Amino acid sequence: MQNGLTIMIIDDNRTNLSLMDLLVRKIPNCSTLVFDNPREVLDGVNDLKCDIVIVDYQMPEMNGIELIQKLRLVPHFADKPFVMITVDHDSDIKFRALEAGAVEFLHKPLEPVEFRARIRNLARLSEAQRKLSDHAQLLRAEVDNATAELRWREEEIIMRLSRAAGYKDQQTARHTERVARYCGIIARRMGLAEEFCRNLQLAAPMHDIGKVGIRDEVLLKRGPLAETERLHMNDHCAIGAAILAESKCALLRLAAEIAGSHHERWNGTGYPLGLSGESIPLPGRIAAIADVFDALTTERPYKKAWSIGQAFDYLREQAGQQFDPACVSAFLRSRDEVAFVCSALADQDRQAA
Ligand SMILES: [Fe+2]
Ligand SMILES: [Fe+2]
Repeated sequence: MQNGLTIMIIDDNRTNLSLMDLLVRKIPNCSTLVFDNPREVLDGVNDLKCDIVIVDYQMPEMNGIELIQKLRLVPHFADKPFVMITVDHDSDIKFRALEAGAVEFLHKPLEPVEFRARIRNLARLSEAQRKLSDHAQLLRAEVDNATAELRWREEEIIMRLSRAAGYKDQQTARHTERVARYCGIIARRMGLAEEFCRNLQLAAPMHDIGKVGIRDEVLLKRGPLAETERLHMNDHCAIGAAILAESKCALLRLAAEIAGSHHERWNGTGYPLGLSGESIPLPGRIAAIADVFDALTTERPYKKAWSIGQAFDYLREQAGQQFDPACVSAFLRSRDEVAFVCSALADQDRQAA
């Protein structure tokens, strides 16, 4: 918080300037900035900081009203109180000065007691305004901090939930991380808003969180699933959506949408609802590609890892069938980024499920 007020005085008459300088400096908490030439003020205006401006009316080159008009165009001077000093009592000058933004008038020859009293009053007003604005700034900063803290906690909850889900499911943490990064790549390539892309990437790791509700003998079974087991496995979408749904936290609601729709298929043959085309939420359509691509390009107990080229061929074939063609196209156009994530986040000691 700033201390003390700075009062800028501009008068071409040096005697008057010295007198006003002396009077102002006698007011508690006030210091001065003095100029005998308005041009000098305008030249250095960007570096000048003050709380009140006292301007003489009659000066060479430009009069006080012109100077006020020019200063008010400078953002950090726009709301400063201006005091006009004038020798005459011409009401026309007063009106024009008022219109230009002057809030107070003083007449020459200056009456020291009146001058000090009026400037002191303005100084008190300015100080009160400054305190209010400092307080408002402080409040704004506190709100910003609280919002950031809230967001950070939401992100932490998501990260911890994803970690918890990983213990039950045999997927590696890297699988969920890669799926998240692929989702971000697709969304950004599609030109979606950065906030959406970021949220999608944060929420995507929870797409399979519903697997915590799947019986171990089904979830961990190595061989092919019987029909009833497959149907039970498919429940992970509805379970995941139910775990995450109706949260007040937008990120968790987005995660619920992804969990509930990442196995839907563009042609309507997916599950759990058999939605098709654009009735499948966009985050689910994006996550579907990321999830399948990652399953194809990592080793599973029943298959070797496919190359990126083979997986891209599969996605190309399935565009318009299993997947939203626009999302596939965005993914295929991002080969370098995809390859980078694929190798930078490759599974090390654990096998991807
Ligand atoms: Fe899934
Ligand atoms: Fe997955």
